Amino acid sequence: MDKFIPYGKQFIDDSDIEAVIKTLKSDYLTQGPAIEEFEKSICEYTGAKYCVAVCNGTAALHISVKALDIQSTSEGITTPNTFVASSNCLVYNNIKPVFADINEKTYNIDPYEVQKRITPKTKVIIPVHFAGQPADMEKIEKISRTKGIYIIEDASHALGSKYKCGLKVGACKYSDMTVFSFHPVKTITTGEGGAITTNDEMLYKKLRMLRTHGITKEGLSYNPGPWYYEMQDLGFNYRMTDIQASLGTSQIKRIDDFIRRRREIIDRYNENFEELDWLIIPYQEDGVFCALHLYVLKIDFTKIGKTRKQVMEELKETHIGTQVHYIPVHIQPFYVNTFGYKYGDYPRTEKYYEQALSIPLYPKMTDHDVEWVIKNIKGLKR
Ligand SMILES: Cc1ncc(COP(=O)(O)O)c(C=O)c1O
Repeated sequence: MDKFIPYGKQFIDDSDIEAVIKTLKSDYLTQGPAIEEFEKSICEYTGAKYCVAVCNGTAALHISVKALDIQSTSEGITTPNTFVASSNCLVYNNIKPVFADINEKTYNIDPYEVQKRITPKTKVIIPVHFAGQPADMEKIEKISRTKGIYIIEDASHALGSKYKCGLKVGACKYSDMTVFSFHPVKTITTGEGGAITTNDEMLYKKLRMLRTHGITKEGLSYNPGPWYYEMQDLGFNYRMTDIQASLGTSQIKRIDDFIRRRREIIDRYNENFEELDWLIIPYQEDGVFCALHLYVLKIDFTKIGKTRKQVMEELKETHIGTQVHYIPVHIQPFYVNTFGYKYGDYPRTEKYYEQALSIPLYPKMTDHDVEWVIKNIKGLKR
């Protein structure tokens, strides 16, 4: 194998390139018609009423928490098994991040652990649909709604996944808002990009304002003329460009093909790996549809007599890229130093972390690439 097979990668074709060129030749490079078209395509795809496209998933999380106007003495609950952005958005808003441990099978936040962590200060819960598998939203909603706690789904991994009820992630059936990321390793890409879906018109208006400095031309206190606008809140420049949005609209037209190919690869991996007694393949909950973004193996490194570092290096030698998703957020130095979290606080996440390894999964992988990965993973135990 000459080429390198990374753990994740975008799939750009001529139709994507043509869509971007068309925008480059148009009158608008930012905040033009391509943004609205992309937002509309996300609404149509997910079933949400409203969508606000922004410059990345982190910005989407930041303004979705800010839009809730939560007091700075509050707490928010999320999973420690995620990318740091899922909890950083709480810190940006002066809300204390509290973690709830994961379910050992799904690696998603465990609703019973959430329940244990709820205090009168808890104002928001941010479940993450890890690797594309929907979190148990029915239970999380039940726990939080009676207490007036908001829910923001971090669906950065899960565009295209469906809950047991058959609705798509992003429809906001169980939440106030859902956040997506369009980083190149995600299901579709805009280079950098993110979006928030919601069914709440007030939140939609707030998010649009926060995306662009907190400035609006609606609901003005007075209106001296056409030049006039007001900054009604402290917002940011989190706008997506039309160049990115046109790529997104082109990509979402092909999302079903992307997901189909991902699932073919997953089936092939599962067939080959399920008999191996030194690893565990990703669990898939009955009744949900997982548009898996990552294929995470849980490997018993002692059984194969190698460390994870050795395994990653050995696979790299054969041109196979791997990654670890994720280093638990609570043991990151910032979280230890700022909030006093420590190793031992979330044992299920920590145990999972010791064994996790993501192997290549992306729609552009050829059958030959897939067989090469299978052969070399199986060959780890000699
Ligand atoms: C779970 C999760 N949340 C949020 C983000 C942040 O998204 P972005 O990289 O688009 O800012 C990521 C990105 O990897 C992620 O995996």
